[in-house]
Amino acid sequence: MTRIVPVPLGDRAYEVRIGPGLIDRAGDEIAPLLARPRAAILTDARVAALHLPRLEAALDAAGIAHSALALPAGEATKSWDHLGRAVSWLLDERIERRDIVIALGGGVIGDLAGFAAAILRRGVRFVQMPTTLLAQVDSSVGGKTGINAPQGKNLIGAFHQPSLVLADTDALATLPDRDFRAGYGEVVKYGLLGDAAFFDWLETHGPGLRGDAEALEHAVAHSVGMKAGIVVRDETEQGERALLNLGHTFGHALESATGYSDRLLHGEGVAIGCALAFDLSARLGLCAQEEPSRVTQHLAAMGMPSRLSDIPGALPDDQALIGLMGQDKKVVDGRLRLILARGIGAAFVADDVPPARIAETLAAAR
Ligand SMILES: NC(=O)c1ccc[n+]([C@@H]2O[C@H](COP(=O)([O-])OP(=O)(O)OC[C@H]3O[C@@H](n4cnc5c(N)ncnc54)[C@H](O)[C@@H]3O)[C@@H](O)[C@H]2O)c1
Ligand SMILES: [Zn+2]
Repeated sequence: MTRIVPVPLGDRAYEVRIGPGLIDRAGDEIAPLLARPRAAILTDARVAALHLPRLEAALDAAGIAHSALALPAGEATKSWDHLGRAVSWLLDERIERRDIVIALGGGVIGDLAGFAAAILRRGVRFVQMPTTLLAQVDSSVGGKTGINAPQGKNLIGAFHQPSLVLADTDALATLPDRDFRAGYGEVVKYGLLGDAAFFDWLETHGPGLRGDAEALEHAVAHSVGMKAGIVVRDETEQGERALLNLGHTFGHALESATGYSDRLLHGEGVAIGCALAFDLSARLGLCAQEEPSRVTQHLAAMGMPSRLSDIPGALPDDQALIGLMGQDKKVVDGRLRLILARGIGAAFVADDVPPARIAETLAAAR
């Protein structure tokens, strides 16, 4: 069954379609969007080897001509170099204003292809076909696109909404366990930030999620529904959308401290960051002491890290980590803004969090 989550953004409204077999049906799903039967696919080499032939066969079957560029897999691809390569390839392929770019891959390809589409000929439409759990529940929805700068992650980009998102849950079968669990960090974030009942459901269904197609589809669709709701109410992050950064200020500091290496994947940093945000909330008397324990226990049940000591290798000291938190782009006028919680499912934006209390939280997690 295909689950459909609408993203009602006026003249930029689109649907997120979620379910098994969507890559094999992509030709028919995309055909109604096309001004002429032609599409360009951006992907990465790993995803191309696993899933591109099925997408190409689906486009063939629908009579849609296509060509594909496979960039190297990995975060380093979100760079000026590879963006330039992608845009110049799209121009060589004579992709025009009314054509469609398809992004087949994880968040790296989705962010890069979306940004390429945003700047090519002042904007062409694109279709997200996310193949990681993280990309299905988070990065493919909401229109944030971009690349990394030497100065930091995601510092160059544009808001550019996709015209359609096709999240084929079958594609997740080939994802390494660790990447699946990292993506789960963003799933659990939705429960923690705004939906206690969803967190309850995840406590029951999370550990068996990979082997339960029905539950997995529900988890993806529910997460996308929450993200879509927030994006529709606050597309350009003037307020509520900031709640999606729960766990991210801590997480980004830890990612930076570990050199964006495979010592710590993004979703793992988010999971640890959520645990720290709840610990800090309890220390500040904002939520009950049992809440951080419940978060940590669920992450442990999922085989996910929740403490600084779960990260292999040495980390900078507390003051240095707080310094890295201050470099996160969510800092406004030099004040540390954090997403804290009054309980599971009740996150809010807190300004001016005292650094001394943050240091206590970090020290306790070592
Ligand atoms: N735009 C947004 O709103 C937003 C939100 C969250 C994250 N992001 C960005 O997303 C990126 C992380 O995304 P990601 O975790 O998907 O990383 P990724 O795209 O690098 O994918 C992770 C790895 O999995 C491989 N892979 C992808 N699909 C696979 C599959 N089905 N089977 C086997 N291997 C597969 C990829 O080749 C890659 O090696 C970061 O750059 C982050 O900044 C963006
Ligand atoms: Zn994230």
